[in-house]
Amino acid sequence: MVGDRYGASDGGDYDRGTVSAVTARVPAKVNLQLSVGPRRSDGYHDLVTVFHALALFDEVTVSPAEADSVSVTGEGAGSVPLDSGNLAARAVAALVEAVGPGVRDSPGVTIEIRKRIPVAAGLAGGSADAAGALVACNELWSAGLSSRELAEIAGQVGSDVGFALLGGTAIGLGRGELVTPALATGTYYWVLAFAAERLATPAVYAACDRLREARAASSGAPGDASGSPGVAGPPALNTRLMAALRSGDPAELGPLLSNDLQPAAISLLPGLRRALAAGGENGSLGAIVSGSGPTCAYLARDGKHARDLAVALTGTGVCRSVVTVTGPAPGASVISAPADGRPVSQP
Ligand code: C5P
Repeated sequence: MVGDRYGASDGGDYDRGTVSAVTARVPAKVNLQLSVGPRRSDGYHDLVTVFHALALFDEVTVSPAEADSVSVTGEGAGSVPLDSGNLAARAVAALVEAVGPGVRDSPGVTIEIRKRIPVAAGLAGGSADAAGALVACNELWSAGLSSRELAEIAGQVGSDVGFALLGGTAIGLGRGELVTPALATGTYYWVLAFAAERLATPAVYAACDRLREARAASSGAPGDASGSPGVAGPPALNTRLMAALRSGDPAELGPLLSNDLQPAAISLLPGLRRALAAGGENGSLGAIVSGSGPTCAYLARDGKHARDLAVALTGTGVCRSVVTVTGPAPGASVISAPADGRPVSQP
């Protein structure tokens, strides 16, 4: 329990009967740096990462109902689980668990997810939906959880959910759930190339472990205690990348983008190598696999360059489709208030 003061009796004097629905908007992300440490005993990997939220949003609407349900429409909707495996449903369950069942003002809750973020694409779309469900239910039920309390619940739901709450540009530590805003200026213009295929995050981490083991075996290097040989010490934040973010200059940032999961993603989908090369051939400042992939992210000089790059990449036929997006984008935010006229609270 987070605390009794967030229980149902803390709902203020508004009439719960008039609250119909709350909608939250949540961003996709790319990792500007993704440094992966050895596999831990719990199966996760310690990370040093720089998250960057992108203006490509899912929307999550929650409303009181007789029974729990999840519905999904839009990009890749057919492959999102609708049962308790759904990350947004798990987030709501974790919130109820933390605050207490009295927080709900109805027997069930309807979660409607409108997807623009592709599924299993390395853009943390499922985590975004979980973050959206958290802020929306916090508002719907007037639960009054602070951003710190929401971040704590987010960390239990998934490694990227905390960042989806925060948005902007942020440093992630631990398994990614410990996030701190980073000093960054300016707007960055990106092209995202969506692949026809999907990659499951656990499979990409496992491939990363295998590649490291193979490399260590061939070089004769001894393994470490964690069972992940070939990892030279704990990962560290790239201070040059942080300086580039402070300068706001995309030409400085482009060559510093890095992702330890990229070789693993390429080993599973070799076509990604060609997709990344097409970025350089068409003038991108930097090209990288986003998170565990297979989406590729290309950094452009400005909006016009991004549009030109998108057209050029489409012409190469290396991907299913492309979009242009800017970053950083805000984290999960309530965009439509309850119908009872209460002001929207900011956690
Ligand atoms: O935390 P989340 O559920 O998003 O993680 C999905 C999977 O990705 C984990 O089960 C694990 O296999 C892998 N993972 C990892 N190390 C991390 C984050 C995720 O190994 N830091």
